Amino acid sequence: MSGNRYHLETTNKPESEFEIVNLTPEYITDNFNKLLAIESNWTELGEEPWTLENFFFELPMKKELSFSAETEDSIIGYLIGSKYNPVLSRVNKIIIDSPHRGNGVGKQLMNKYFDACRDRDIIYSQLKALPDNEPANKFYMNLGYEKFNVVRGRDDKLRNVYEKKLI
Ligand SMILES: CC(C)(COP(=O)(O)OP(=O)(O)OC[C@H]1O[C@@H](n2cnc3c(N)ncnc32)[C@H](O)[C@@H]1OP(=O)(O)O)[C@@H](O)C(=O)NCCC(=O)NCCS
Repeated sequence: MSGNRYHLETTNKPESEFEIVNLTPEYITDNFNKLLAIESNWTELGEEPWTLENFFFELPMKKELSFSAETEDSIIGYLIGSKYNPVLSRVNKIIIDSPHRGNGVGKQLMNKYFDACRDRDIIYSQLKALPDNEPANKFYMNLGYEKFNVVRGRDDKLRNVYEKKLI
């Protein structure tokens, strides 16, 4: 581990430390089993789990705007971000492994991503959420995102579109 150190904000589980590190193609190569294991969480949420091909799919500034939260021996969550145009980035995905949700890990990942965007003069962040994914919609609104649209995806599902001004 080589990033910042955080404490899990938890009272009912043994306290453990996690770090946030850059999620680069090399990191994916070294950790693909752990990443794919967390992907299986998606099925219950009505989203298609990613394959390795999705992880390696190249997007502008993906390696600069993507982060992983890891403890000494496991990955507990990650955020995939990318730049969409000179002033706008998108969170393509954020997921925390189910036993670690509600402990502040998602918020720390988002804050790391916000800082990485601001360092590159990216002014806006957008993301999408299924309307019935109540925890995710609340999580984004808590972080200052505002819903501004609803779009239908290639999978024919409707998604809320959120935007936050970062600077
Ligand atoms: C949504 C998700 C990323 C949030 O990450 P997390 O680590 O559980 O969230 P955090 O513990 O950092 O919570 C940060 C804030 O959001 C709020 N929040 C988190 N989960 C919440 C929930 N289930 N209901 C209401 N608020 C919630 C917390 O209260 C906290 O607010 P606070 O800072 O005022 O205390 C995580 O629950 C997850 O991975 N869910 C499944 C995957 C998913 O839905 N991803 C998003 C798809 S669009």
